[in-house]
Amino acid sequence: MLVLPRRSDDPGASVPSPALLADTAPSSGALAPRSWLHSDAPSLSLNGDWRFRLSPTADLPDDVARADLDDAGWDTLPVPAHWVLHGDGRHGRPSYTNVQYPFPIEPPFVPDENPTGDYRRRFDLPAGWPVDARVVLRFDGVESLYRVWLNGVEVGSASGSRLAHEFDVTDRVRAEGNLLAVRVHEWSAASYLEDQDQWWLPGIFREVTLTARPADGVEDVWLRTAFADGVGTILPEVTAPEPAFPVTLRVPELGVETVWATPADVAPVAVGEVDPWTAETPRLYDATVTAQGETITLRLGFRTVEIRGDRFLVNGRRVVFHGMNRHETHPVRGRVFDGEHARADLIRMKQFNVNAIRTSHYPPHPRLLDLADELGFWVILECDLETHGFEKAGWRDNPSDDPRWRDAYLDRIRRTVERDKNHPSIVMWSLGNESGTGANLAAMSAWAHDRDPGRPVHYEGDYTGEYTDVYSRMYSSVPETEQIGTDGSLAPLLGCTPAQGARQRTKPFILCEYAHAMGNGPGALDQYEALVDAHPRLHGGFVWEWRDHGILARTADGIPFYAYGGDFGEVVHDGNFVMDGMVLSNDVPTPGLHEFKAVAQPVALTFDGGELVVTNRRHSASTADLALRLTVEHDGREAASGTLDLPVVEAGESARLPLPAVPVAEGAETWLTVTAVLAADTAWAPTGHVVARAQLDRSAPRRPRPGSRAVDWREAEGTLTLGPATFERGRLVSLGRRAVAGPRLELFRAPTDNDEGATYGDLAASDASTVGVSSASLWREQGLDRLTHRVVVVHEADGALRTITRVSAANSVDSVTVETVWTLDEGELGLRVEIQPSSGWPSVWPRIGVRFDLPDGDGAVEGAEWFGTGPLESYPDSTRAAYVGRFRATVAELKVEYARPQETGHRAAVREVDLGAFGFTAFPDSRGRLPGFSLSRHTPQQVAAAGHPHELPESDTTYLFVDAAQHGLGSRACGPDVWPEFALRPEARTLRLTFHI
Ligand code: GAL
Repeated sequence: MLVLPRRSDDPGASVPSPALLADTAPSSGALAPRSWLHSDAPSLSLNGDWRFRLSPTADLPDDVARADLDDAGWDTLPVPAHWVLHGDGRHGRPSYTNVQYPFPIEPPFVPDENPTGDYRRRFDLPAGWPVDARVVLRFDGVESLYRVWLNGVEVGSASGSRLAHEFDVTDRVRAEGNLLAVRVHEWSAASYLEDQDQWWLPGIFREVTLTARPADGVEDVWLRTAFADGVGTILPEVTAPEPAFPVTLRVPELGVETVWATPADVAPVAVGEVDPWTAETPRLYDATVTAQGETITLRLGFRTVEIRGDRFLVNGRRVVFHGMNRHETHPVRGRVFDGEHARADLIRMKQFNVNAIRTSHYPPHPRLLDLADELGFWVILECDLETHGFEKAGWRDNPSDDPRWRDAYLDRIRRTVERDKNHPSIVMWSLGNESGTGANLAAMSAWAHDRDPGRPVHYEGDYTGEYTDVYSRMYSSVPETEQIGTDGSLAPLLGCTPAQGARQRTKPFILCEYAHAMGNGPGALDQYEALVDAHPRLHGGFVWEWRDHGILARTADGIPFYAYGGDFGEVVHDGNFVMDGMVLSNDVPTPGLHEFKAVAQPVALTFDGGELVVTNRRHSASTADLALRLTVEHDGREAASGTLDLPVVEAGESARLPLPAVPVAEGAETWLTVTAVLAADTAWAPTGHVVARAQLDRSAPRRPRPGSRAVDWREAEGTLTLGPATFERGRLVSLGRRAVAGPRLELFRAPTDNDEGATYGDLAASDASTVGVSSASLWREQGLDRLTHRVVVVHEADGALRTITRVSAANSVDSVTVETVWTLDEGELGLRVEIQPSSGWPSVWPRIGVRFDLPDGDGAVEGAEWFGTGPLESYPDSTRAAYVGRFRATVAELKVEYARPQETGHRAAVREVDLGAFGFTAFPDSRGRLPGFSLSRHTPQQVAAAGHPHELPESDTTYLFVDAAQHGLGSRACGPDVWPEFALRPEARTLRLTFHI
């Protein structure tokens, strides 16, 4: 055990910084934690510009608090802010690591190279400040360890970056001329407990406030609520000194006005019939608690959380989490809270059928929880704790099981629960993330259970279920998750003996993280969703994660871009692993989020014979807020539209509605689209917002297209023309009057982050010998990105041209034979491409397709209008958001600007594409499979070579890809590989197109 100088609770006693930095005690001089309350007591915001001085080391003279220190030459830094995001590099730079500690692992010590920010600010108390009140100084978030002086006297120190600390400064504060000084160290013992996968961003990044605490005010209040059988109850806890009484509770809407004459009178209040609070119906009741010297305003939501057997219930009904892991991140502000941005984000979540948030991996700004209460989310509120970096050494010296850190762990959970306990949206506490396991975690859990019996405790790392209430895992595969949900399954569970596994199967299960949304992906969302419907023990989960954490930066040439790990010259970093969100850094929802929306739709619309079946999959809300709209399209052009009366379908029920007659087109596809839309405005979307969609193919049977005629081939030479097409030695060189080159076999795609992933089980991409090797590595090894071509024959016949090309890579025996047959048939230019691999190709392929090069010049291709699936990109294991229709987009709009350039833009199952200068029609192959297309200003090889969008070279060509098939997406960047059904193994494929000028 380390012996350290005692951190005295006597304010003013100073401990030298080096000792403090290695102290595992959480704070000294800080007050007991309490709720973050909306109070009418006077307060003074100390946000704004502070004097700021950054030193490269922590070993500094204690001069920051000296009144005679001249700080005129210091910088100015706003509070709240992270110093590394201000000062144009003068204040250091952000650094990103996932699991790695950016300093030697030698707990509890940190290096002397420890950027230290000294902050100073002068203030006067406002006129009318109550002279007899206690004065409390509150810090809502400072990373990582800080010391505070007021008027030259040290009032305390604290760590726990995303937690609030208060200091009593009554004896130190003056009416005028106060000097507040804060010294913040980037690294401290506490950093070992804050190894979350995110940017390290030091500084005072949440508010600093001075509050008057009236002698007859309310120290703390907790209005716990319960809801059962339509009736609500308030279970109050009021912490206030005697002079504060009588204290009155008022809930005007419920006619509640209860006066408690003394602390002993505070007792439960039955409020009679109420509307319950749920994430779907976030009904809040304004309440006030009025003491003699202070009024607190709260918003009550009545709900009861409970675990019954393996069910997690709110108000007696099973909850299914369609959740997101949410970090606090903003491209300019970092973790500094922006209420408008946060509200917009939460509104976006609601619009995309997200109903739950896990506050990974720390308490968010307290106002976020006001928003969650108001807009309606089930929240798992997580404590600020992660010690993942210890895993590297087999969890040796992990603080989670080391008594020296017990106080720090308990302090963290206390501050977490106490601050946020009043929020109805919070339905579970989480002890933290990826901190191994040990007695300190068990102690946190015991404390939370004792303090708040009304909310279960979650912690994923408790694999064997020794101290938590729900079974939780991250990234378990679909089969494994299914086994967790299956009664009687003896399949082993991670880290469990059979008996421990049996215990875990008696609990509700959640995926605290799944579907790693890094880059293009994730795939298989629908497979996970299907499990939730089939196995009631499975309560859904939380996608990893909501947003990319890109930081807005500029290149030396001034080009703006979103930076990730390594872009700031970090010594150790984890690259773009911090760009794994459903929303890009610039707030644009990814196709993955659209897929999530389609998969998580709260109302299932299915077709059965001539009927529409509407199934309400919600927790408790009926369909009274929804309306049904119908559209009929012929080849993507609207032919009819209308509405369908939707009876009120209660949660868990379904209704069958007869469908009206659909006008069916001759010689065109007929699609009926049904959407469930909001019937009235809500707080998060206007009337008409689409909540769910389904399509029914009502097309008349199509006549099969005859194959091309047999012809007598002869050797061909020189320039040939077939109608609008000109060929040189068998290769297309122009179509109409514009230059077009192709088709050229393309098997490569710019690897997605999932293609580059090698972490988890290889379901399909590789054979046993390549377990642990990414698909992308296999593709490069085989030379799929550097194929060479040899034309074997060029043949012509009347109205036809044929080439056979052998395609292979340097030093490879594997090859692909490509036969192209161009025909001019009654004036129609047709192309058939037969793609036939040799046997022996060892792994999955990224794509099977052809490329056409369309150089700029006359008739440059600006974009496409197409009839097929859209409007966004889709891949074999992410198809639910795509629907059949007629769409239009520019080349730029066709791609998604992922933080690291990669495969993007594939529109599957295309029937017609119009590129302006020319167009083509695609026909199904003999198995009815239609190709997809994409347009790009770069080849996959160019895209693969770029680390950021701005690194892509200037381009003078648009590339058209027509893909007979694409490989699925999976989520192997951190999770399962592509499911075999959606993996593309080498196989023969046929493309059949006709071109129109
Ligand atoms: C999990 C972790 C997250 C994040 C994710 C990968 O293991 O809990 O914080 O790192 O992996 O992006």
